[in-house]
Amino acid sequence: MATHSQIIGSGFVTGEHCITNEKMCQMVDTSDAWIRERTGIEQRYMVEHGTTTTDLALRASQKAIADAGIKQDDIDYVVFATMTPDYYFPGCGGLLVRKLGLRRSVPALDIRQQCTGFLFGLQTCDALLKSGMAKTILLVGAEVHSVFFPWPKHQWEFLFGRSDVPPTKEEHEWSSQFRDRAVLFGDAAGAVILRSGTEEGRGIIDSKLFSDGDSFEDLYVPTGGAAQRPYMSHEALDAAQLIPVMNGKSVFRRAVTLMPQAIAAICDANKLSLDDIALVLPHQANLRINLMIQKVLGLPDDRIFNNIQRYGNTTAATLPIAYDECVKSGRIKQGDLVCFVGLGAGFHWGAVLYRQ
Ligand code: UT7
Repeated sequence: MATHSQIIGSGFVTGEHCITNEKMCQMVDTSDAWIRERTGIEQRYMVEHGTTTTDLALRASQKAIADAGIKQDDIDYVVFATMTPDYYFPGCGGLLVRKLGLRRSVPALDIRQQCTGFLFGLQTCDALLKSGMAKTILLVGAEVHSVFFPWPKHQWEFLFGRSDVPPTKEEHEWSSQFRDRAVLFGDAAGAVILRSGTEEGRGIIDSKLFSDGDSFEDLYVPTGGAAQRPYMSHEALDAAQLIPVMNGKSVFRRAVTLMPQAIAAICDANKLSLDDIALVLPHQANLRINLMIQKVLGLPDDRIFNNIQRYGNTTAATLPIAYDECVKSGRIKQGDLVCFVGLGAGFHWGAVLYRQ
């Protein structure tokens, strides 16, 4: 049996502030019942001002490095997935190398695959390890989504519980235009350390990833790129064009169709049946999406994992967080076949098979 790229350590962190649905109701026109029923989310975390995506990534990476029991200097490649980078450029990879204090020459690659960033990261790391170009890779998925919400300081102070003055009626009304997105997202980072497998049969078995840019406008940020001149303007800011635009229903339909198809494709390609998979780890965008996937596949509750209730959608961070929680709680045991699956803006989707 061949050796595969193995995850030898993992860790995650969330933003500092836990924001309940009740609190969100004071920011936008929504209700705890609506959010739970339509998304499954009960709370999400947001960062304190000043905490950046690479700050979260740093803390998650330090946990993964400690968990792997490696020396920091063993890392000879960094792969960073995010859709909320600290800066327009450069990407977060090099900034993380600096914050971690890694050797200066360590290559750092940024990938932009949104909710499938971790899946594309796993495939990239697998290729780097198999080719011998890297020996020990740090792969991070990190997001600070709260940066999308253009609330003035006094509203953040209220959200974080440091002020008793709620948003005015006008502010509440204005923010409610993006209530479908405001309730969905959370800030977090997850990291893993990958190495060429030393134990036969354990590690990444295969990856099947797909992309199709046809309907990208169903989920994207309209401004802040070279499609506009100037790429940023006062008018665009006032029109809230830095907030992602989302056709929720269309994304939902795509997710419940393409994610089960990706699982079927990877099982077929590896002559496996669904029964061989001990646990499906789906991207956490909406609990209803994952319940639908479970139903389509006919999986019992103990063979699919969800934690969106506690974190919301943390985009590139959802899968490393889910993996870390499952390994640490014993839900994933040595020898288990795990299937990571996701779909995200672009659109990109796919599955990765992993033997623990
Ligand atoms: O990782 C990829 C990221 N995104 C996704 O995966 C998104 C996938 N899609 C979804 O999760 C769901 O489509 C949403 C959660 C975004 C929306 O749920 P839905 O069941 O598709 O709701 P809807 O868009 O059909 O809206 C139903 C109603 C609308 O009101 P009217 O027009 O029926 O009066 C919305 O205005 O719900 C309203 N609504 C809300 N009400 C209370 C939308 N957002 C909210 C809200 N609170 N937060």
